[in-house]
Amino acid sequence: MATKGKGGKKAVVRAGNASASKKTAATKVEPAKGKLGVMVVGLGAVATTMIAGVEAIRRGLASPVGSLTQMGTIRLGKRTDNKSPLIKDFVPLADLKDIVFTGWDIFEDNVYEAAAHAAVLKPELLKKLKPALQKIKPMPAVFDQYYVKRLHGTHVKKGKNKRDLAEQLRADIRAFKKKVDRVVMIWAASTEIFLEPKPVHRSIEAFEKGLVDNDRAIAPSQIYAYAALKEGVPFANGAPNLTVDLPVMIELSKKNAAPICGKDFKTGQTFMKTVLAPAFKARMLGVNGWFSTNILGNRDGEVLDEPQSFKTKEESKLGSLEYIFQPEIYPELYKDIYHKIRINYYPPRGDEKEAWDNIDIFGWLGYPMQLKVNFLCRDSILAAPIALDLVLFLDLAKRTPKLRSIGIQEWLSFYLKSPQSAPGLYPEHDLFIQSMKLKNTLRHIMGADLVTHLGLDYYD
Ligand SMILES: NC(=O)c1ccc[n+]([C@@H]2O[C@H](COP(=O)([O-])OP(=O)(O)OC[C@H]3O[C@@H](n4cnc5c(N)ncnc54)[C@H](O)[C@@H]3O)[C@@H](O)[C@H]2O)c1
Repeated sequence: MATKGKGGKKAVVRAGNASASKKTAATKVEPAKGKLGVMVVGLGAVATTMIAGVEAIRRGLASPVGSLTQMGTIRLGKRTDNKSPLIKDFVPLADLKDIVFTGWDIFEDNVYEAAAHAAVLKPELLKKLKPALQKIKPMPAVFDQYYVKRLHGTHVKKGKNKRDLAEQLRADIRAFKKKVDRVVMIWAASTEIFLEPKPVHRSIEAFEKGLVDNDRAIAPSQIYAYAALKEGVPFANGAPNLTVDLPVMIELSKKNAAPICGKDFKTGQTFMKTVLAPAFKARMLGVNGWFSTNILGNRDGEVLDEPQSFKTKEESKLGSLEYIFQPEIYPELYKDIYHKIRINYYPPRGDEKEAWDNIDIFGWLGYPMQLKVNFLCRDSILAAPIALDLVLFLDLAKRTPKLRSIGIQEWLSFYLKSPQSAPGLYPEHDLFIQSMKLKNTLRHIMGADLVTHLGLDYYD
């Protein structure tokens, strides 16, 4: 049975129409008027590939392949209605031409120099974009080598304590807000060492005291997130760090109507895992072992070569199978999976990562089989459209009365290796459930019928 949204089907047609009823007006998504400011923490490979990509797309030099917000459609009504508008025509998203980028980095390179250093995009393309890219110069970062051992930052803020650093970031945000109409922040900086939640993360008061006391449990990523959420700015985390998955951040997010979501861009191997694992489970095929290994040679690979940063990444990558297979419900099929993940820094490959998976599965009567996946991917080419979509959807969430004050935007799990969900609720890792959740959330906020795929009404 299709569930009716509050405004019913007609609201879809009338979305944005001044004659809509008062009730619809109160829940209506605000239009994306003016400039959207995007503050990027870390102007490295992913960030510069996103920024240069947006610039190239704006000029008609390239196509936004991999971006659901730019290329995806959404079915409305029945299959027989033949109504599948582009997502960006259905929900009011910021137009790419209205995006203004800024950011922070621990190095002074402007975006053109950083993109050239990352060597993801071809020099011919970068040269065409040079005048625009070199105008984007990073602000000094909040950084402490204790949290990213392999990097030595030179372009770094100084402050008497972490509270002072947070205030400097808040001043950066407020200054940027004067130039644009809305702001979103995204962490595309290096992976920090593995940290666990501590009492200092339990409440806003405890965290603010921890900032003054320079508590070791507060990493730079948390200081950026705190600054963003205090300023009412939505925050996305592209890395696996412990950042917004903390009670203090959830509290701040709700209090200041600053949406947050999970963490760690779901790009290569985990993307494949969250496609294949649900397929095995749907067919009740068992799995004994899943060995995943990677070689990559970019700066991210260098940072992840350090055991404490690798541990953060490993934890994020490990979670997906456990949740998808539900071994507690299917012990015979999934109780004893041996799941191993390796990331090897191998400089000759640069950003062109290679991932191998060996999956030991078993079928009818327990007979064993194997599946091998060899994914020759480009890390930042996969991550850039995800970063862009997260930014655009978080901005949408901020303009949506039904979403902006709920804190965690579970519907954005689709993009993330470690989805975040309400406390006590297990996260959904299955890519297709995530995709359905995302699209139904868009239908819901626009007052359209949800699509459940039941389809019995075609046979009435
Ligand atoms: N590319 C992918 O497919 C992918 C997938 C999932 C997650 N990630 C994560 O995204 C992040 C970025 O990846 P990348 O390949 O662009 O890495 P990168 O090393 O090229 O870029 C990271 C940038 O962050 C800067 N930085 C580090 N600490 C900072 C701080 N405290 N403040 C400001 N800047 C800081 C570094 O100087 C660097 O320029 C990494 O954490 C990575 O693990 C990437």
